[in-house]
Amino acid sequence: MKSPHASIYQISPYVAGNVVPADFIFTHNLASNENPFGASPTVYNAIATFVESKTHTYPDGNAVKLRKKISETFSIPFQNILCGCGSEELLHLLARTYLSPGDEVLIPRYGFSVYNIAVLSASAVPIFVERESKNKTLNVSSIIAAVTPRTRMIYIDHPGNPIGNFLDYEALTRLIQTVPPTVMIILDAAYAEYMNTSESYTAGHEFIEKHPNVVVARSFSKAYGLAGVRLGWMHAAETVIDAVNRIRAPFNTSTLAQYAGIAALGDLEFVYNAIAHTHEWRKKLDTVLCENNMSYIPCCTNFTLVHLPGRATELYHTLGKNGIIVRPMTMYKLTDHLRISIGTAEAMTALFKQIQLFNK
Ligand SMILES: Cc1ncc(COP(=O)(O)O)c(C=O)c1O
Repeated sequence: MKSPHASIYQISPYVAGNVVPADFIFTHNLASNENPFGASPTVYNAIATFVESKTHTYPDGNAVKLRKKISETFSIPFQNILCGCGSEELLHLLARTYLSPGDEVLIPRYGFSVYNIAVLSASAVPIFVERESKNKTLNVSSIIAAVTPRTRMIYIDHPGNPIGNFLDYEALTRLIQTVPPTVMIILDAAYAEYMNTSESYTAGHEFIEKHPNVVVARSFSKAYGLAGVRLGWMHAAETVIDAVNRIRAPFNTSTLAQYAGIAALGDLEFVYNAIAHTHEWRKKLDTVLCENNMSYIPCCTNFTLVHLPGRATELYHTLGKNGIIVRPMTMYKLTDHLRISIGTAEAMTALFKQIQLFNK
């Protein structure tokens, strides 16, 4: 049997947040940036209907009703929307559709690990763009400087995971206007819903009409509470949608996911409440970290990246043994950092108590 192509072995398998040492107690999971309230009750009703009547028939492969609902909710033309099995699938499909072996793809240092996997699995070459040392912000000039005649694609985590910061409107405009139109710019806006308090943030949908090389990927996994259902979507020029649509699996979104997505968009109040809770408790977490002399990268998402030189591993184990699972950042070689997702009031209160005890 022929071996897989060489770049496959440059990929380290993805390690999920729920893979933890055996002595950890799983009381509060603050490791995977999920919505701690789950999904809206309307979603559970929709799923129950699915379970009662639709398991035996194939899904609508074109996800027409869901795309119409996304189109209405976000005021985006129906034909510019494609749904996927999580936004992750779409990030992969874009790489498979557009990259050839040897093409260069720019990825911000500490960018979401899936970009690297998608690029290497297309036998293309990831080029990492360094961030500023202060707060690890991304500098547009560094991205532009890294573009070469072989650059085909740029992934921007927008805002970043695990870093949490973003390119503001001005920086994004400069990037899009400067990069050659032959280079695809993928704005991964999986956390966009949480950016409602950041005035200078835009997910970037408004750029697509004039700049067909821009793609925005969105997720139902975060604020909508559908991580387990696997549903995402992207907004792109019709030519891009048409190309990616040709290679996706014919039924890449299940009927269950389509029902759940429509129902989730039907109860935005649930989503707004979860977002408000997230902002409230992230600010409280930031205060507790400051009071305990722990630094963090300021952000507006549903997680905080804590910087604890020399003590991150110890805090990770202390929290884990006391029922609070957070995420070590070894996968990103940020060994002095822990990423903490915002959970319920109960989980956050337990976390604060443990941080205070740890610091005594
Ligand atoms: C930055 C970023 N993009 C994309 C994703 C993938 O989301 P989905 O669950 O929609 O595949 C994640 C998930 O953690 C993420 O953090």
